[in-house]
Amino acid sequence: MSASTPFPYAISARGPLRGALTVPGDKSISHRSLMFAGLAVGESRIEGLLEGEDVLATAAAMRAMGARIERDADGVWHVWGVGVGGLLQPETALEMGNSGTSTRLLMGLVASHGITATFTGDASLSKRPMGRVIEPLSAMGAEFTSSPGGRLPLTMRGLNPGVPIEYVLPVASAQVKSAVLLAGLNTPGITRVIEPVPTRDHSERMLAGFGAELTIEETAQGRIISIRGEAELKPQQITVPGDPSSAAFWLVAASIVPGSDVTIANVGLNPTRTGIITALRMMGADIAEFDSRTVGGEPVADLRVRHAPLSAIEVPPDLAPSMIDEYPALFVAAAFAQGRTVARGAEELRVKESDRIAAMAAALGANGVALEEYEDGLAITGSRGEPIPGGAQVASKLDHRIAMSMTVAGLAAKAEVSIDDAAPVATSYPGFFQTLDHLTGRNEPA
Ligand code: S3P
Repeated sequence: MSASTPFPYAISARGPLRGALTVPGDKSISHRSLMFAGLAVGESRIEGLLEGEDVLATAAAMRAMGARIERDADGVWHVWGVGVGGLLQPETALEMGNSGTSTRLLMGLVASHGITATFTGDASLSKRPMGRVIEPLSAMGAEFTSSPGGRLPLTMRGLNPGVPIEYVLPVASAQVKSAVLLAGLNTPGITRVIEPVPTRDHSERMLAGFGAELTIEETAQGRIISIRGEAELKPQQITVPGDPSSAAFWLVAASIVPGSDVTIANVGLNPTRTGIITALRMMGADIAEFDSRTVGGEPVADLRVRHAPLSAIEVPPDLAPSMIDEYPALFVAAAFAQGRTVARGAEELRVKESDRIAAMAAALGANGVALEEYEDGLAITGSRGEPIPGGAQVASKLDHRIAMSMTVAGLAAKAEVSIDDAAPVATSYPGFFQTLDHLTGRNEPA
């Protein structure tokens, strides 16, 4: 399956999901592993890298800027970096596909190297706002020519040496935070980011692990992250934990399909990522954690989830940053709960791979779920554990998480739910449909 070849998919109700699985490596950590290893001097080794199209776009871009990146027969990735300051000017445009994380973080890297790079993307990525990174990176000295509205395709010229800045994040975004910190890696002096609301902290953990001088202070203003350039990164051995954002689909699927009992091994449980588990447990989900441990500096555990009746909640808006990618899955859980779930304060959903508020309102609404749409979220009246009507076609809008969420909804619908194009699933979760078949007894493990 490739995101560029349409893949229509239809799903009808199936029996319980049962058995064990692992989810692919964490997408955020996989991108960062390739980027940071690509800036270290010497060989890094990465185990468990997500081999989805988004991460492969990062690998291709880092290669185009001089890093040597190879995958061995055991699926371990080896990276020989160019050293901070050593990125080469790419000869052709960097094709980012569907991946906002690749684009925004790589823009940060290019910003403090004296090179010119052009970024292009698919129709979804070309609609997404890049002004949020253009603004701070311009203050550091980079120059941009973008498409109208600060969008791709865009060409940028980095500045070396650039200017260190102190930047208060105007939007809770780990991508913007990371772009500034990565530009700071090759900028003399201290670059500082202040985040009033904490977002995923993989960049901070991993940069410190790679030997960058990075400090974090918790203050009344928020978290202040300071990085000293011109950093020297040392090669690392990285084990990427399973992606909690991918695990979320099985947490919801097993919760809503009666008789389900699923164990997901090796799930990353960084507290900046686990809002979905908190929200599902508030709804009454039966999720148990086993064998809690630390893998590659990140908390990890095995999760067992069993079917349980769900009750509506008011989703606390302060959970939004730690479950920002999981709202589509949560909306599906809400569609099966008893009562009216209200999830607001999540306006960032409108600028993801699709407008996820509009896309999920259309998808669930067409399949017979009662809901109201707000500028910053949805209110959904659930089916009290009964199957939802289903029977309609859903537009995935080039968004992997819409396709996977509506597949999960179709597992407990009266009539078939069809998805116009499930190919985008390949960007983050190759093997999703094989695992679904495995858990529902349709084939052998993928
Ligand atoms: C990511 C940050 C989040 C998230 C995305 C991955 C990252 O985006 O939605 O899937 O790896 O830093 P924002 O920073 O735009 O919230």
